[in-house]
Amino acid sequence: MPTLVYQSFTHTDGELTCDGVSVAAIVARVDTPVYIYSARAMRDAYRAIDEAFAACPHVIHYALKANSTLALVRLLRALGSRVDANSGGEIQVALRAGYEPRDIVFTGVGKTRDELERAVALGVGVINAESAGELDRIGAIASAQGRDARVALRVNPDIDAGSHPNISTGLKVNKFGVPLTEARAMYRERRSRAGLRLVGVHVHIGSQITTADPLRKAARALASLASELRADGIALEHVDVGGGLGIPYEGRPMIGPAEYAEAVLPELRPLGLPVLLEPGRAIVGRAGALVARVVDTKHYPDGRQFAVLDAGMAELIRPALYGSYHHIVPIRPRSGAESPWDVVGPICESSDLFARERALPPLEVDDTVAVLDAGAYGSVMASNYNRHPLPAEVLVDDGQWTVIRRRQTLDDMLALEQ
Ligand code: LLP
Repeated sequence: MPTLVYQSFTHTDGELTCDGVSVAAIVARVDTPVYIYSARAMRDAYRAIDEAFAACPHVIHYALKANSTLALVRLLRALGSRVDANSGGEIQVALRAGYEPRDIVFTGVGKTRDELERAVALGVGVINAESAGELDRIGAIASAQGRDARVALRVNPDIDAGSHPNISTGLKVNKFGVPLTEARAMYRERRSRAGLRLVGVHVHIGSQITTADPLRKAARALASLASELRADGIALEHVDVGGGLGIPYEGRPMIGPAEYAEAVLPELRPLGLPVLLEPGRAIVGRAGALVARVVDTKHYPDGRQFAVLDAGMAELIRPALYGSYHHIVPIRPRSGAESPWDVVGPICESSDLFARERALPPLEVDDTVAVLDAGAYGSVMASNYNRHPLPAEVLVDDGQWTVIRRRQTLDDMLALEQ
């Protein structure tokens, strides 16, 4: 069951390397905190998904929300990926990275009128509408512009993705999509509406999904809706199954791209339509690490010990927000017995904690550590909380490394203010 995945960050001769490049050497030049990404890991992950779906016409629309640092988006574009954008800002990133509007799927709850007008004027590939009201607004905007907008409805199939409640989106209590049971009527009513071309159906039930069953069920629900719509004479051009494939943060066995494809393709292939995929985490998650420095250690009388890093929830909020697990490894592990460490950040909140009682070798001030599997929903969710400048980002590619985003300066941070 477990799919073998390429490991970019490994210890070689006692120090952490990223695809053979010394992490310490990068830190010596760029300082901490820094996000380091492996181009090879991204390419491998992209190809694994592409190959898993090879038996069926498919298009990968990388979900920019997972990580939209321009150099990484350009790297994926070079591989043939298209994009899923969730806002006007992400559309702008896609265009800046060289994408044509038709390569963009525009999804997301709460698209503003300005965002919709621009998306329609650009002629994006498809707008995944979240409600009947949004579909009608798109139709009106497109008619006013003398165009037809290519649209799909996102359906909510009331399926439990089985992941953290904050990132499960396919249950009827969630704000996402329209109830599956109402979708058919919504399409039928708008079959010949001016300004609208109903080209697809869309579902996305959540993120960090580790079992095949919810994904299979969602694909089945979507396929059955698609068949009904075609019977109603709606000329669908694709089905979009969203993203959601997880990564093994804790190293437990879970499905990989092959098992994902095996689960959904039998449901989708009979339609004979191209399948759109919107993976984010599965492409970029394992490719990135956040490297931070130990700035203090604390040893309490009861034996509890803390390693305080120069990065915390401002740089990587996932542990604080979802209680999520990330491996933590010293760049140059010291010899000596492992003991339990609370690895925390410098932010004034007790939720600013990367790991509780994690077995780690001895740590001392000025040691550096890497928080692994931080490529997805890491830098994109970083903030200036406690006035932390945004970290630098580095891409390692074929033995070379480049700063792809410089560290924000204090002046950058204050530039918007009077
Ligand atoms: N498509 C849609 C419509 C989405 O809402 C998402 C993610 C994706 C695709 C990509 O999902 P992925 O393949 O990356 O699972 N911040 C959270 C994850 C939020 C996911 C939001 N939507 C985290 O750090 O776990």
